[in-house]
Amino acid sequence: MKIIFIGPPGSGKGTQAKRLAGRFEIPHISTGDILREAVADGTPLGMQAAPIMTAGALVPDDLMIGIINDRLAKSDAQRGFILDGFPRTVVQAEKLDTIVGNGNDTLRVLQLLVPDDAIVRRITLRRTCAQCGAIYHLENNPPASDRVCDRCGAEVIARPDDNEEAVRKRLEAFHRQTLPVATYYKAKSILREVDGIGPVDEVFERIEKSLQ
Ligand code: AP5
Repeated sequence: MKIIFIGPPGSGKGTQAKRLAGRFEIPHISTGDILREAVADGTPLGMQAAPIMTAGALVPDDLMIGIINDRLAKSDAQRGFILDGFPRTVVQAEKLDTIVGNGNDTLRVLQLLVPDDAIVRRITLRRTCAQCGAIYHLENNPPASDRVCDRCGAEVIARPDDNEEAVRKRLEAFHRQTLPVATYYKAKSILREVDGIGPVDEVFERIEKSLQ
């Protein structure tokens, strides 16, 4: 099972990908998480990516392709994987074809549909665990205590790119650079569109149905 999630920022890719990874027992590979870890560790990649991410722009293709190439070569990804946040440009999608092989029969691409006006509210009220990556929402799914992760007890924070200005830039990047990726997979007849509005459980049910 090789699954790709495409969707605007805040559409629920991370929330749903984590659940699906548990269901199929395959790794959830989030390029955003990989980059945030590099930023936290102060690696050269992290130092290059930090200002780009904070501004809501995309990190260069060659860096992202190198990251995914290395990650998909690991043994746990041989049974399958869920990609969350990659590919985000047509160049990345074409490169992914060469990495996974053109046997696209096992590749399924899920596009989460959420209108722009719902996005800003979702993102500005999102909180994320700095340690385990658990995702909360102050209205829809708050942690028991505002600042502490229910799962691991670490601090729950707002991401530096979760402010209104950066979110608008991320949405613009999505429309200009990532929507053509959906068109790319539609032309290959492997794209499934899923309505991302509604309770998380309902969206998950739709995803499961679309994979049957
Ligand atoms: P990344 O981390 O991938 O961010 P993103 O695509 O902007 O997506 P988000 O993580 O913001 O949202 P999500 O769709 O996962 O939503 P979530 O489940 O958290 O990338 C960050 C940055 O890294 C990029 O801007 C770029 O700079 C760089 N980058 C990463 N990959 C790259 C690549 N391949 N190429 C170039 N640059 C790259 O949900 C959001 C909120 O909504 C949460 O609070 C959640 O609780 C809530 N929620 C979820 N589902 C629902 C629901 N059904 N109803 C109500 N609320 C819900």
